[in-house]
Amino acid sequence: MDFVRLLLVFLHLLGMGMLIAMFFVQRRAGADAPLNKGWLHGSALQLLTGIALVALSPLTDKDYNHVKIGVKLLVLVVIGGIVALNLNKKPAAWITPGLAGLVVLNVAIAVFWT
Ligand code: HEM
Repeated sequence: MDFVRLLLVFLHLLGMGMLIAMFFVQRRAGADAPLNKGWLHGSALQLLTGIALVALSPLTDKDYNHVKIGVKLLVLVVIGGIVALNLNKKPAAWITPGLAGLVVLNVAIAVFWT
């Protein structure tokens, strides 16, 4: 079962990498480019792998901090909401740095909140 957890953590970290990469992809595409769907796919991957990690915790002997998980979930819902509302539209100037900032916030919560 620990292998399944490690596989989910592996995918969770790739999802994080994808969301960070989206910042650069979006910047490179220019200010007039529509919001890339990759934001949505990366967010969905984080949601699915995160929920699966928590759901499997009784089997993987992990005792996660549920307040911390709740805050991460909330931040991700905000990310997903901003992405969903702006998909395929030309994003306002604050959206790309704002989304990246929220992703980095979740990384900081994941690492520093013990
Ligand atoms: C943008 C969204 C997210 C990012 C960037 C992110 C990032 C990370 C990172 C970097 C870690 C590794 C931390 C470490 O091992 O010290 C981690 C672990 C974890 N994340 Fe997330 N996360 C996100 C969303 C979520 C969500 C929504 C959930 C749950 C619903 C979640 C649940 C977890 C769990 C349970 C772990 C611990 C895995 C383990 O070591 O067994 N994450 N996350």
